Amino acid sequence: MGLVDVSRLPQHVAIIMDGNGRWAQARGQPRTAGHARGADAVRDVMRAARRLGIPALTLYAFSEQNWDRPQDEVDALVDLLCEHLVSERDELVDNEIRLSAIGRLHKLPTRARARLRALMADTEQYDGMTLTLALSYGGREEMVDAVRTLADRVANGTLDPKTIDSVTLEDELASMKVGPVDLLIRTGGEQRMSNFLPWGAAYAELHFTDELWPDFGANSLYDAVGCYQKRERRFGLIPDDCEAVDAPLPQSSLESAV
Ligand code: IPE
Ligand code: IPE
Ligand code: MG
Repeated sequence: MGLVDVSRLPQHVAIIMDGNGRWAQARGQPRTAGHARGADAVRDVMRAARRLGIPALTLYAFSEQNWDRPQDEVDALVDLLCEHLVSERDELVDNEIRLSAIGRLHKLPTRARARLRALMADTEQYDGMTLTLALSYGGREEMVDAVRTLADRVANGTLDPKTIDSVTLEDELASMKVGPVDLLIRTGGEQRMSNFLPWGAAYAELHFTDELWPDFGANSLYDAVGCYQKRERRFGLIPDDCEAVDAPLPQSSLESAV
């Protein structure tokens, strides 16, 4: 496990939780067994993020494109979601975690939407950490929906197109409610974004790991945050204008994450 400086945490961590199917296949199990183990990993990582003090964690649980997988896999994923929206209630409440969701949620079956709504209502008063589930989410779709909303406002005369700037668009993106992504992690060995948070992750530090999602745990998160803290974020500026963060830190400022 690497050392984490708790005074310089990423404020928003987003994770593409990939590799469930391969995890199961490597064990001669059906892909759905990998999704079930993946749901357990969600609990571990959520706890670890909360314990560290990360304010926002966004998890890519189901993409808009994932609807085109075989129906039995889609059904199993929806069932798992429904199950965990009930079983994890105490975990969220005890840790004062607020649940949020982004994506074309209207495409989820009614029972999933009802459970999601109930758990969001039960946790809306908490500010320990915001856990956002990306469900039926696609970054392009999110932008298309936002553009449609702005076009409607222009058409009904409540928005002057000349005043549209990046803030106007950002205000329509539910994924931006918790701010831009500082650290984006993808498990499972692929090095791509797969339509996840194209706007919010524009300046995110990227961390790719070969670990399959069911094997990813608290220590993997600490390692990813440790790597993030060695990066120099420049945001288009020149190094002298940014805080150099890759110099060794004094030992006193380092705290073990466990
Ligand atoms: C990620 O694991 C979970 C979802 C996309 C729902 P995958 O199911 O994509 O697993 P691999 O990438 O096939 O191993
Ligand atoms: C991205 O993984 C979506 C989620 C993790 C929910 P995919 O497995 O669907 O992405 P691709 O097919 O590798 O791009
Ligand atoms: Mg995959």
